Amino acid sequence: MEDFIERVLITEEEIRQRVRELGEAISRDYAGKELRVVGVLRGAFIFMADLVRNIRVPLSVDFMSISSYGDECETSGVVRILKDLDKPITGRHVLIVEDIVDTGLTLRHLKEVLSTRGPASLKVCALLSKPERRLVQDLTIDYLGFEIPNCFVVGYGLDYAERYRNYPFIFVLKPDYYHDAQREGKGQCG
Ligand code: PRP
Repeated sequence: MEDFIERVLITEEEIRQRVRELGEAISRDYAGKELRVVGVLRGAFIFMADLVRNIRVPLSVDFMSISSYGDECETSGVVRILKDLDKPITGRHVLIVEDIVDTGLTLRHLKEVLSTRGPASLKVCALLSKPERRLVQDLTIDYLGFEIPNCFVVGYGLDYAERYRNYPFIFVLKPDYYHDAQREGKGQCG
């Protein structure tokens, strides 16, 4: 095993199984409808690629890229749109795909922004959720892969300093490898 891996939290097979279940649930719920699947770059790109291959209703994809304002984000929850959607979503059934919901500030802001554009419906599918870190109450995740403890996880699209996104499983990074994030109080794995 690679030296930077503390432990594997979710295996490739567990991810494959859960993504299949999520795809089946989404396919059932949207039967007879057409979906617009919106991926939030960059972390969601691998999850989204696997998810859409498990969805059996007609769909199109679009992407957004957003960035937090650093510390200000923690209080205001305002995020900056770096790349907006290419197509309008008015009258569309929109499914936002996220890799992880942590404080929930990003998702809350994204839902607020997209809901002003008149979608027929707006739901969220997230692979991971860290409830211990949540600052936003009443945030609905319509389809959730896994609830995880407050560990510093990477892999399967998730990064630290842009690394580790390419690993096909989700693992806890050894503390030696994420000094900065540790100082910020993230990833105090209980
Ligand atoms: C991550 C993740 C969410 C956000 C969740 O993105 O993809 O968008 O953080 O955090 P929150 O719930 O505390 O708002 P990140 O900024 O790491 O960018 P990335 O997707 O490019 O890795």
